[in-house]
Amino acid sequence: MIRAKILGLGSYVPPRVVRNDEIPFLDDQHVPQETRQTETNDEWIRARTGIEERRYVDTAAGVTTSDLALEASRRALEDAGVDAKEIDCIILGTLSPDIHFPGTAVFLQSKLGIDGEDGCACYDIRQQCSGFVYGLEMADAFIRTGKYRKVLLVGAELHSNALDFTTRGRDVMVLFGDGAGAVVVGAVESDDEREGVLYTHAAADGSGAWNLYLKVFDISKSPIVHYDATAKLDAEQQYPQMVGKKVFLHAVRNMVVATNRALEKTGLTWKDIDWFVPHQANLRINEAVVEYAEIPKDKALNTIMWYGNTTAATVPLTIDHWRKEGRVKKGDLVLSTVFGAGFTWGSAIFRL
Ligand code: COA
Repeated sequence: MIRAKILGLGSYVPPRVVRNDEIPFLDDQHVPQETRQTETNDEWIRARTGIEERRYVDTAAGVTTSDLALEASRRALEDAGVDAKEIDCIILGTLSPDIHFPGTAVFLQSKLGIDGEDGCACYDIRQQCSGFVYGLEMADAFIRTGKYRKVLLVGAELHSNALDFTTRGRDVMVLFGDGAGAVVVGAVESDDEREGVLYTHAAADGSGAWNLYLKVFDISKSPIVHYDATAKLDAEQQYPQMVGKKVFLHAVRNMVVATNRALEKTGLTWKDIDWFVPHQANLRINEAVVEYAEIPKDKALNTIMWYGNTTAATVPLTIDHWRKEGRVKKGDLVLSTVFGAGFTWGSAIFRL
């Protein structure tokens, strides 16, 4: 029987570390100013979110999301011992694509040097913070059905150029960071139900769509972009908008239900599972999920303190971070639960 297995894992964050106490002084090019630009502070950010620092790209260098994806992909391919030419499908999750269209996966394909007439299938998926679990569900289905043999699944986000560095946007701006994570998912012959990807479940509730969104354009209008981006007149169009408390409550509730469902459906218990890797949106959300779903605290892995919310990248980035620290090892069984804009959410259980 064909099963999908994680063959390799990699992540990348840009080198610039931005600490909470720097945030109030940054202008919209992320350059520190002498006077405060935003009324916020380290104490508020730490207490409400658990975030201490995050990474930003060098805005002046013209970095794109596909550049971040490329670095993470190269590392995942090397880890898997797979040549980029062997990849027959790319699935890329992002809410910060290089441009509106074409999708970012094709830019990544070119940067990997595997474009051309025999180029592989390239999918962009738009499930925001749930992108990794949604993408893993697709990769698993493609591989099990024999459609593809080696899928490169990437979550990559460049948030820092699209945040409102004023008091108006502080509730959202302090949360997000730049980064990417990737896995190579490949076909293996195995009848062992505890090998590879054991379980995926993806869900959505569109009634939550306007609780977290970024418009940029409005297709019902002509011209579709009608704001003055230079003067930053229309903040609603240009920056992410969030009803934070609603997102928080729905995140906790759905992540608890999805986590328990994953155990119910597979018959596994926390004794079988090595690590719980939740999406990294807010440390308080993850602590609440751990408490309500009765997850052993020492099995929960977080990285939001150092990277903030990197949306589709958080799950592979967190696993890779803790692997480098020596906690996570090959062969470990991971239960990952995610929640994001849409609302979308899901869980997956997979062996590394
Ligand atoms: N710095 C300082 N003060 C801030 C602030 C900031 N960065 N952001 C908001 N505030 C202020 C608010 O203006 C408000 O002031 P007021 O009481 O004078 O009106 C006060 O802090 C409390 O704001 P509130 O929104 O009630 O805080 P909260 O406890 O709900 O925390 C979030 C805000 C954003 C941290 C929280 O709602 C959250 O994490 N939500 C989920 C976000 C998320 O997960 N998003 C991604 C989904 S995948």
